[in-house]
Amino acid sequence: MTGHSHHHHGSEHGGTDAHSHSHGHAHAMHAPPADAPAMYDAAYAAAQPAPGGRVITVDLEAREADWEFVPGKPARVWAYNGWVPGPVLEGRVGDVLEVRLTNSLPEATTIHWHGLRLAAPMDGTDSVQRPIAPGETYTYRFLLRDAGTFWYHPHMNETVQLERGLYGALVVRGADEPELDAERVLVLDDVKLDRAGQIKPLGGLVERHDGRQGDTLLVNGDAKAELTIAAGQIERWRIVNAASARYVRLSIGGRPFTLLGTSGGLLGAPVQVTEVLLVPAGRVDIAVGPFAEGETIQVESLKYYRGTIARSKPVTFATVRVDAAAPSKAVIPATLRPIEPLVTGPATPTREVHLGEKPSLTKGVRFFVNGEEHHRDAPVKLGELQVWDVMNDTAMDHPFHLHGYFFQVVSVNGEPPAFLSWEDTVNTPPKSRVRIAWLPDDRPGEWMYHCHILEHHEAGMMGHFAVVP
Ligand code: C2O
Ligand code: CU
Repeated sequence: MTGHSHHHHGSEHGGTDAHSHSHGHAHAMHAPPADAPAMYDAAYAAAQPAPGGRVITVDLEAREADWEFVPGKPARVWAYNGWVPGPVLEGRVGDVLEVRLTNSLPEATTIHWHGLRLAAPMDGTDSVQRPIAPGETYTYRFLLRDAGTFWYHPHMNETVQLERGLYGALVVRGADEPELDAERVLVLDDVKLDRAGQIKPLGGLVERHDGRQGDTLLVNGDAKAELTIAAGQIERWRIVNAASARYVRLSIGGRPFTLLGTSGGLLGAPVQVTEVLLVPAGRVDIAVGPFAEGETIQVESLKYYRGTIARSKPVTFATVRVDAAAPSKAVIPATLRPIEPLVTGPATPTREVHLGEKPSLTKGVRFFVNGEEHHRDAPVKLGELQVWDVMNDTAMDHPFHLHGYFFQVVSVNGEPPAFLSWEDTVNTPPKSRVRIAWLPDDRPGEWMYHCHILEHHEAGMMGHFAVVP
């Protein structure tokens, strides 16, 4: 393996100059380890496709662009390749994805590959790499190990960089996926626009407490999204919630639909529902339809109160129009994949993670893990089963996200979940105990977990830990 060294920068760029772009939050305190460049090179070389797999090479440029959320009203955004969301990256299990990111933004950035089980040096956080300065190009390269609907976004100055449009979906297909009539990727977001149609700068206390909820609802960057579906057909929709803080209590006009997968890929078996809760950073794969010709159906978020200062309102994301009938070949198998429980019975927790909040004279509100902003948590040993009690000590919901490993929810307030699933993000309701289990099976290095409400994440409601041999 030679010829790739010009794609990335190594130790010669050492130093912390890029941190001059940090925005007053505490990110700069987590610098990558001194041997990060060597670990990066090893991870790069080790990322080889499985037999029959390909290397998929993608160039992304993060830059300013004009984007019409609302037709005729271009907004100044930050976007990958000029698109909000960025391009849908697609691969199959066993492929290697190599992404060359050029930073043409006025500030440093990184890309985090949300939900992927990749080597720690490719995780795109400032715990494992030096931020990519303006003008630099940096290469991420990793094996796609798992089928599912994932996404990518910066892990720097998130309340600005994601809010302005830097995010995209990443779809990985497995060997035997359910065969439906069509597939769509729907990335949901909400933005707050001023009268001129520009994204408003972050507001005051309410936004810092609640997280920003915009009033312009987007599907794939479009505030007036319309979908057309053929009568009689059943489609697979891969839905990503890329909003900063909005909880999407997803309803398809109140019609029944089928839940096929969640953040960690397919469920063991399909589940019939009429709604599903999609927390910030959450994903669902659903089977939608069949509908009758001429019907009009709203894709909406029902009222969901998450303990915020601001009130909760139902909103509509898109309108579905049902066209002339087309034949269906859709088959939803009775079982999707085997999922073995990591623990049976109540299990003994190995760790408690407390999500906390406190009023503050200077900041209005502060967010913690175990009483600390950017908590340094104890290391985790390779191969040792983790059973964590995530304790939400606050009066609002927080979506808990673990980097690099899927977990199973064992119980919520002592009650087992309705079905077993793999997840990378899960809701923690107010004053709750959410017991999760996960296995640090391999991939030692620096990892983290955090609330995925971006304002809480940036305020330090997160923990950093190492997976060690
Ligand atoms: Cu999508 Cu650390 O997050
Ligand atoms: Cu939170």
